[in-house]
Amino acid sequence: MAKLTIKDVDLAGKRVFVRVDYNVPMEEKDGDMVINDDTRIRATIPTLDHLVAQGAKILLAAHLGRPKGKKEPSMSLRPVAQRLSDLLGRPVAFVDDCIGDKVAQTAGALKAGDILLLENIRFYAEEEANDPAFAAQLAAHADVYVNDAFGAAHRAHASTFGIAKGITEKGGICAAGMLMERELQFLGSELETPRRPFVVILGGAKVSDKIAVIDRLLEKADSLLIGGAMAYTFKLAKGLKVGKSLVEPDKVDVARAAMEKASSRGVELLLPTDNIVVTPVVTDKLNKKGKPILAFENPRHNTDPDIPDTEEGVDIGERTSECFQERIADAKTILWNGPMGIFEDPRFSKGTFAVAQAVADATARSGATSIIGGGDSVKALNQSGLGDKVTFMSTGGGASLEFLEGKELPGVAVLSNR
Ligand code: 3PG
Repeated sequence: MAKLTIKDVDLAGKRVFVRVDYNVPMEEKDGDMVINDDTRIRATIPTLDHLVAQGAKILLAAHLGRPKGKKEPSMSLRPVAQRLSDLLGRPVAFVDDCIGDKVAQTAGALKAGDILLLENIRFYAEEEANDPAFAAQLAAHADVYVNDAFGAAHRAHASTFGIAKGITEKGGICAAGMLMERELQFLGSELETPRRPFVVILGGAKVSDKIAVIDRLLEKADSLLIGGAMAYTFKLAKGLKVGKSLVEPDKVDVARAAMEKASSRGVELLLPTDNIVVTPVVTDKLNKKGKPILAFENPRHNTDPDIPDTEEGVDIGERTSECFQERIADAKTILWNGPMGIFEDPRFSKGTFAVAQAVADATARSGATSIIGGGDSVKALNQSGLGDKVTFMSTGGGASLEFLEGKELPGVAVLSNR
C-alpha cells in the first residue's frame, strides 16, 4: 500500500490519536441507549491490540449520528466505551468531552497500553466544518495520528482530515490502521485486477445512488447482476411495465446507457425475469416523515416480464435467484452491494438470502474472493448467519460507494506516504 500503516511506525510510548468509526446503530431500552450491532467496534480490535502490544498511549475519537454541533445525550459514546472494554478485556476510560482541560489531563496521565475514548466529536459543529483551530486542539494531545475510520474517510472533517496538518507540523506521522488497510486492499487493489470471472451483484433502492459505481464496474466485471428496486428502472428502460414498483423515471436514460455500455464491452448484464409482487395498500399509520405507511397484501410470484398496474415488485423470483446463483457459483471474484428486495420483511427476504448463500458457497467451494460492499448487504449477510463465510465485509456505507466509484477519499489522501 502506498500509505504508511501502523505496522511501519514505532509506537512505543507515543500518544496516538486514533479516529475510528463507532457510528453504530443504537436504540433506547428502559431509559438506556443499547448497541444493536457492534460490527464496527469489533472491526477495530486488531488495530487496538497492535497499539496496546506496542505500548502506545491511545486516544480514540469517533462520531455517533448527526447531532449537528449539539450535545445530544442519546448520541453519547459512553455505551461504546463499555462495549469496547468488554471486547478487549481491558479498561477503556471515557471523558465526556473531546477537547479542553479534562481531556488534556486524562490524556497526559495515560500510561503505555492505556485507552481513552473521547465523547462524540460531532457535539462540536467545528468537527464537520473542519475548523482549523478545533483540529489543532485535537492534534495537541498526540504524537501520531491513525485513521482506522474507513466508514468516515469520505468526510473531510477536523478529525478525519484537518488534524493531519497539526500532527505533521510537529514532525508526527499519519498512518492507516489495520481496518483501513484491509478496506483499501479489498475494495481497491483486489478489484483492480480481479481473478475471473468477476461477478458484481448490485441491488438496493435507487439507480441514482450507484450511477458512478455501475459505470466504473462495467469496465472491470464479466457479469453484472441487478436486483432490488433499482432493477425496475432498468426494466422501464427496456420498455417493460413496472406497475407501482419503486422507480426513478428520470434515470431511465442512465439505465439505458449502462445497458449499452455493457453490450459494447461484452459484459453480461442480467435483470430479474420474475418477481415477488404485492398489492400496496395505504394504512392510517404514518412514518417518521408523516407519510402513510403501506401494507403489502396478496404476495404472489409473477413470472410475466411486465408487472401489472396495481402491483409492486418487492423481491426477485425463484427463476432469477437460480440464474444469479449459477453465475455466482462460477465466479472467482464477487462484489455484492445492495439487497435484492425488502429483506427486512421475511416474506420478501428469499432472494437476498439466496444470493447471500450462493456467495458464501462460492467462497467455501471454489475459493472465490467475496467482497461485500457495506450497508444493507452486510446486514442481510449477518441476519442470515453467513457474516463469517465471506472473504471481506466492508464497514463503510457511503465511503465504500465513493471508493468503488474511484474517488480519492480525503481521510486516506491525508495519510503519510511510504
Ligand atoms: C456511516 O455511517 O456511513 C459513517 O459513519 C458516516 O456517517 P455520516 O454519513 O453521518 O458522515
